[in-house]
Amino acid sequence: MDKIKVLGISGSLRADSFNTALLKSAIELSKEYLNIDIYDISRIPLYNHDHEKKGIPESVIEFKSAIASSDSLLFALPEYNSSVTGVLKNAIDWASRAESPLNGKPCAIMGASGGLSGTAVAQSHFRQIASSVNLICMNVPKLQLRKSKSLFDENNILTDQSTLEHLDKFLKAFREWTLNFINTKN
Ligand SMILES: Cc1cc2nc3c(=O)[nH]c(=O)nc-3n(C[C@H](O)[C@H](O)[C@H](O)COP(=O)(O)O)c2cc1C
Repeated sequence: MDKIKVLGISGSLRADSFNTALLKSAIELSKEYLNIDIYDISRIPLYNHDHEKKGIPESVIEFKSAIASSDSLLFALPEYNSSVTGVLKNAIDWASRAESPLNGKPCAIMGASGGLSGTAVAQSHFRQIASSVNLICMNVPKLQLRKSKSLFDENNILTDQSTLEHLDKFLKAFREWTLNFINTKN
């Protein structure tokens, strides 16, 4: 089969985001077997049912179409106040409306935090949201990076060797899991 088509979604809009940097490292590490494109959710406006009735914003149409044409989704989640970021939840809310491309889509979750949580709580909250929109999340392995500043260099490149090894295992498991999912479905 061709390379698996993955849509990467970072829950951070920050230019120097560790989570976006983690997605970029994932692209580099898995380029032989995954084709990961990052979708920038900063263009998605705040959800408002009144605006939706007037017409779906172009960015949302694009986002939904990018999800629909992907084999699976890879989320990189920051943790804000013991949950997922508002911008990510907003993007999921938009995508879940009408014909939801999230319905039955496989996904994996990883995350990087500045402190010691490793985004464990945000990941757990995300699983709850995912079940509501019928995203099917890979359960293990988990990827929860703590003290992220020490893992990335001054150019925001992931350089910590044991983290790179873990990310490599995670991405290979994600590939197998997505393939099993596609094969079971067909
Ligand atoms: C509003 C806000 C709330 C935060 N809450 C948490 C938290 O609950 N747990 C945690 O580990 N880090 C928390 N942080 C720190 C983030 O994990 C840290 O800023 C991280 O680098 C954000 O991800 P990014 O680098 O991809 O932008 C918070 C940061 C902000 C701005």
